[in-house]
Amino acid sequence: MIVVIDGPAGSGKSSTAKAVAAKLQIQFLDSGALYRVATLVYLNCQKDYQKFFEQLEESEISFHFKKKKFHAFLDGRDVSDEIRSMEISENVSEVASNSDVRAFVNQLMREVVKQNVYIADGRDLGTAVFPDADLKFFMVADLETRAKRRFEEVKSSGKNVTLEEVKQNIAARDEKDSNRSSDPLKKADDAILIDTSEMTFEEQVAFISTEIKEVI
Ligand code: C5P
Repeated sequence: MIVVIDGPAGSGKSSTAKAVAAKLQIQFLDSGALYRVATLVYLNCQKDYQKFFEQLEESEISFHFKKKKFHAFLDGRDVSDEIRSMEISENVSEVASNSDVRAFVNQLMREVVKQNVYIADGRDLGTAVFPDADLKFFMVADLETRAKRRFEEVKSSGKNVTLEEVKQNIAARDEKDSNRSSDPLKKADDAILIDTSEMTFEEQVAFISTEIKEVI
């Protein structure tokens, strides 16, 4: 079984999906983290696309959800914190707009979800990756709210960044993610729309958990 939550950066999809997964004891898959790991490989290759693709094929990318945290590994090394840097955030949308990178990440995800019950978050899961998902949500919130949330998150992880920088990064990613030609950020026709601007975190978790329990 697969439940998907798509939406723009900072709309609350990841933290909500994580809390729902912990509450219902199912697996969580952060597809954005996989694009971030691919971006780390890209930066390690000094942005040389040819080297990057060779390296990506040779790399071992794995992940698991443990103690309410999603861990991503590159060649056995836990890179979960490293992939949240501003440098990765500034390059990830470019890397994710490449159709070969998307095919690579999609294959990784489709393989793994066969093995368990998953809630996954991303941009194109309901439209392109899992069009037959059992349940689909599309989360939105206004830019100001999303920037503040992401800023608090980045700040609490000890990184030095301003609210304005976070806001500009989110707006730039939204723009790129929504307008790229391969599988842009888009609400699936059959996805349930949730505007979290005025919702508390607990309300978001309760709403999605209730919907899931109805189809499990
Ligand atoms: O979810 P997060 O903000 O960490 O995602 C980082 C980036 O990965 C997004 O801005 C987007 O460019 C890309 N992404 C994507 N498709 C997904 C998930 C993320 O293109 N399903």
